[in-house]
Amino acid sequence: MQINVANRLPRTADNACQLLFVFDDARLKGAARKIDKDANGLLKTLFANGDFKGNKAETLMLHALPGCDAARVLLIGLGARKSFGADAWRAASKAASKAVLSSPSTLLVSDCLNAVTDENLSAACMAEQLATDLINNAYVFDLHPRRDPPSSATLEQCVLSIDKAQLDEVTTAVQRGISTGRGMQLARDLGNLAPNICTPSYLAERAESLAAEHESLNTTIVDEDEMEALGMGAFLAVSRGSKQPGKLIVMEHKGRKRTGKPIVFVGKGVTFDTGGISIKPSDSMDEMKYDMCGAASVFGVMHAVASLQLPLNVIGIVAAAENMPDGDAARPGDVVTSLSGQSIEILNTDAEGRLVLCDALSYAERFEPDTVIDMATLTGACIIALGHVASAVLGNNQGTINALLEAGESSGDKCWSLPLWDDYQPQLDSNFADMANIGGRPAGTITAACFLSRFATQFDWAHLDIAGTAWTSGKDKGATGRPVPLLMNYLFNRLG
Ligand code: BES
Ligand code: MN
Ligand code: ZN
Repeated sequence: MQINVANRLPRTADNACQLLFVFDDARLKGAARKIDKDANGLLKTLFANGDFKGNKAETLMLHALPGCDAARVLLIGLGARKSFGADAWRAASKAASKAVLSSPSTLLVSDCLNAVTDENLSAACMAEQLATDLINNAYVFDLHPRRDPPSSATLEQCVLSIDKAQLDEVTTAVQRGISTGRGMQLARDLGNLAPNICTPSYLAERAESLAAEHESLNTTIVDEDEMEALGMGAFLAVSRGSKQPGKLIVMEHKGRKRTGKPIVFVGKGVTFDTGGISIKPSDSMDEMKYDMCGAASVFGVMHAVASLQLPLNVIGIVAAAENMPDGDAARPGDVVTSLSGQSIEILNTDAEGRLVLCDALSYAERFEPDTVIDMATLTGACIIALGHVASAVLGNNQGTINALLEAGESSGDKCWSLPLWDDYQPQLDSNFADMANIGGRPAGTITAACFLSRFATQFDWAHLDIAGTAWTSGKDKGATGRPVPLLMNYLFNRLG
């Protein structure tokens, strides 16, 4: 799908859809006013009769309007003009993209960026959101062979019009939106792939091919022998129980004309989490294929960063391993030495995410990072605390936490902070090693972050627990692509 920005709306071909966003006060502007006039006041009549109220995210598809060359016109409500803002726009943009993508339209046109003006929300922000939604909501998973493959949307092209003065700014915003959407699609594909296919070695191959696709990207794979030599005993304690060899995957994007310390993203890439010897109950265990969604979002971000050629140095590190029970698997009670030199008593082999991540964090030190942000489906406790709405953010630097909170607000891919006070650290005390890998049931998300904090001492660091946000269960089971929008917005904000 192509999304273009133009100075004026193109003449529409037969199979087009025109988007009209309308507030609940029924005051028509721009293209809406003209369409209403050409159709002898039809839109006004729909309002007067209560067929369309303009409620937030309400949609109504109209066909074959008199005087309109587009085959269909999609009305989308924005709710009350007074309370309009980023939230209302996001709801409308999502509804609009879903409605148009489920229609047989091949072309979409809209002058919404001119018609919907709001002092709190720039045309660029609106365009970025709409572009991301159009790409992301066109997603279908089709990587497994099926007799009856799911059909994909017919939409080929979208044209958004904007006045000349804002053309450049909005074009940049649309490119950002498209790349974020494509990054989400990649993250969703990797997350949804079956765990017998999406192994650590598969992820390593995907990283190699991503580097082949983008000139600015370089991929290095650290295999188990090298990890052994380096002393990554925590990571290896997880992967030793699996026939699939673990991989530490490093993707480096060098922005042109940029030196400067890198921003490093670290993703938990447990391609399947059985719990190991501390085995999980079998209910919904299939969903533990999503335990690599932190890694998937690193892929999504690196893809987007490289596509946009962002003038930043960005490094993605994926800690990819499979957590299986086996004759050679780690036992509860085992003590291992991490890359940092700190020893860990593994009291529960199901707390494996922090074991692979702690060595990846120590590994990140060699890049002398400006900031390190890790993403992980780390704790079930995070779902209890924040549900499926917000990711949890914790870290050692309030500036980084604030920047992520803000990026979450502006992208709608929200996160919320939990305290990382030292008061929680004693829960990790061990009688036999520097620390235990679990801190008991109270404040499970915080103690997991406390564990990680002991390995993030050399840089500004934040941790995102995405256990509740990275995928959806039930009928709509699937990866969400989060927190790619959050991280992309964080990067865009850093560029200014
Ligand atoms: N991958 C899981 C966390 C998880 C569970 C995410 C369910 C989403 C849904 C993680 O490896 C894990 O098993 N965590 C344990 C930690 C505990 C043993 C301290 C948990 O949350 O129960
Ligand atoms: Mn686990
Ligand atoms: Zn896990």
